[in-house]
Amino acid sequence: MAKVISNVHLNEQVGLLEVECDRTGKPGQFYMLRAWDTFPLLPRPISIFDITDRGIRFLYQVVGEGTLRLYQLRVGDNLTLEGPFGNGFPELNGKIALVGGGIGIAPFYYAAKSYENADVYLGFSDKPYLVDEFRQVSPSVTVDVGGTILDYVRFEDYDHVIACGPQGMLKAIQAKQAAEQTGTNIYVSLENKMACGVGACLACSIKHKSGRKKSCTDGPVFRAEEVSFI
Ligand SMILES: Cc1cc2nc3c(=O)[nH]c(=O)nc-3n(C[C@H](O)[C@H](O)[C@H](O)COP(=O)(O)OP(=O)(O)OC[C@H]3O[C@@H](n4cnc5c(N)ncnc54)[C@H](O)[C@@H]3O)c2cc1C
Ligand code: FES
Repeated sequence: MAKVISNVHLNEQVGLLEVECDRTGKPGQFYMLRAWDTFPLLPRPISIFDITDRGIRFLYQVVGEGTLRLYQLRVGDNLTLEGPFGNGFPELNGKIALVGGGIGIAPFYYAAKSYENADVYLGFSDKPYLVDEFRQVSPSVTVDVGGTILDYVRFEDYDHVIACGPQGMLKAIQAKQAAEQTGTNIYVSLENKMACGVGACLACSIKHKSGRKKSCTDGPVFRAEEVSFI
């Protein structure tokens, strides 16, 4: 059982939750969160936003009942966390770009803290949030509001690009990779629906170059060119 230390509402849909718990996990991994009894039936996967000296922070956007329950949590409330799950981001050397669209920015704060000198690109559809926090952990933070953050990323400037965001953005990254042929290693972190989080149910199955893969245990981080978005 974990306890809520803070739950800051950044706007009407997005919150930053800090929970007191074991501080384990690497960038790109996620936890299954449950802050309710029987409904919704399943816990919800949320990426590690940050590991602090007190616990773990999660950045979430309300899209349905589960994330609404997270938004309603108050200081001192209990919730259960299972994890950390998933492969997380690879260990990388060289010049790195972290590209987040919408709530897909969530895994990149801890990543920016962990990689040395990674550039961060943040795409928002509306008013930005947490930009100053990202500036404290990255030498370069580029922000776009209402446009296409990918337009700012020059693949040839990087050895590695990691992206997380809506499927449309990840497909656009694949198209850019195929068109530009820069040799940059491109990774995508998928946020498709999950049920168990531990490889037991196949709810998160994706089409991959080498057959079906489970996003929860084989991913959620894959090489971009190996994923097929149906
Ligand atoms: C590995 C992983 C990491 C994630 N990290 C984060 C994170 O850090 N912060 C965050 O806010 N969200 C994250 N997500 C997405 C989050 O898990 C879902 O938004 C959440 O499970 C929705 O639950 P809900 O009960 O609020 O909505 P539901 O009632 O389950 O769904 C409400 C609506 O949202 C749609 N929806 C549900 N899940 C998704 C999804 N994964 N992608 C697109 N649409 C969806 C449904 O189709 C439905 O229309 C992550 C997902 C994965 C797989
Ligand atoms: S969520 Fe059950 S196998 Fe991945």
